Amino acid sequence: MSVPSGTTGSELAALLRPAAEVLREGGVVAFPTETVYGLGASALDPAAVEAVFRAKGRPSDNPLIVHVSDLDGARPLAREVTPLAAKLAGAFWPGPLTLVLDADRTVPRITTGGLDTVAVRAPDHAVARELIRQSGVPLAAPSANRSGRPSPTTAAHVAADFPAGVDIIVDAGPCAVGIESTVVDCRGRDPVILRPGSITAEQLGTATPAALTGGLPDLAASPGTRHAHYRPAARVHVADIGSGPSRVAELVEQGTPVGYLGLTPVTDVSGVRILGMPRDTRDLAHLLYAALRQADDWGLEDVVIEAVPPIGVGVAVMDRIRRAAG
Ligand code: TXA
Ligand code: MG
Repeated sequence: MSVPSGTTGSELAALLRPAAEVLREGGVVAFPTETVYGLGASALDPAAVEAVFRAKGRPSDNPLIVHVSDLDGARPLAREVTPLAAKLAGAFWPGPLTLVLDADRTVPRITTGGLDTVAVRAPDHAVARELIRQSGVPLAAPSANRSGRPSPTTAAHVAADFPAGVDIIVDAGPCAVGIESTVVDCRGRDPVILRPGSITAEQLGTATPAALTGGLPDLAASPGTRHAHYRPAARVHVADIGSGPSRVAELVEQGTPVGYLGLTPVTDVSGVRILGMPRDTRDLAHLLYAALRQADDWGLEDVVIEAVPPIGVGVAVMDRIRRAAG
């Protein structure tokens, strides 16, 4: 089903009634958030969560993010909402920030991938928020891609990954951000970034100075970062900053079809398919997953992605690009 742009308030509520009903009854609904599309199910219903793992082909040790309306929605899921979590939620919710806390015993183990922690976030998207509100349950929702594929930023990407269908796909157009939320361990006094994402370390630093000095993200700690991810069929070559065009020229020489995504414009090379030449890193984040999928649709064997400066959202972008390159 699709939500026309400009739909608001009571219209949206009426439109989403069937999807909320499906969620309440243990079904699976793909829906947009501001980051990427999620594959949602009631986080408190083990059979529904199981259906999400099965549909995605997701390893059972990779926990799901639970989507809530606000901090009050998160409280029953956590043993304790730490002062740090309250502070970060106050600063960034609703928004692309996921908080990891000790899980309450009522959260099914399947949802937390067997961990005794739970990840919670309040998405900043009218459709996601209305589904959470109307279904009356917290929604476990991983990105709505088959495990290992790039995250979906449009409903068409979701449909392509699940040819057998999910109960409902709610199409509300492309996602604004295009890259996933930042996952932060909030159990201690200082935040620890487990997965870099749309909210930058610099932004976290404005709310909690320690985030800036926390050093590099502790990538071992978020189970999802251990698994292969974001892989297109094409070989992904990461070019140094500024050297995208020359890398493209080298590969074009070899005669295979080459795709390009990067900030430095490629102007004088024929035989290259342009996947995107965004104007800045945020814009590149927005295009990245669609470009990886486009590369597959075009049957490209080689894709050059030019590196971006690893500051701000560039940290998350480089994390995704490196993983796409394998
Ligand atoms: O923006 C997003 O976060 C999107 C939208 C749909 O909200 N969701 C998303 O979910 O990216 P998923 O499942 O693709 O990625 C969730 C990440 C994984 O790396 C997972 O390991 C990590 O969050 N995670 C979930 N629960 C965790 C926990 N208790 N402790 C540590 N990491 C956790
Ligand atoms: Mg994912």
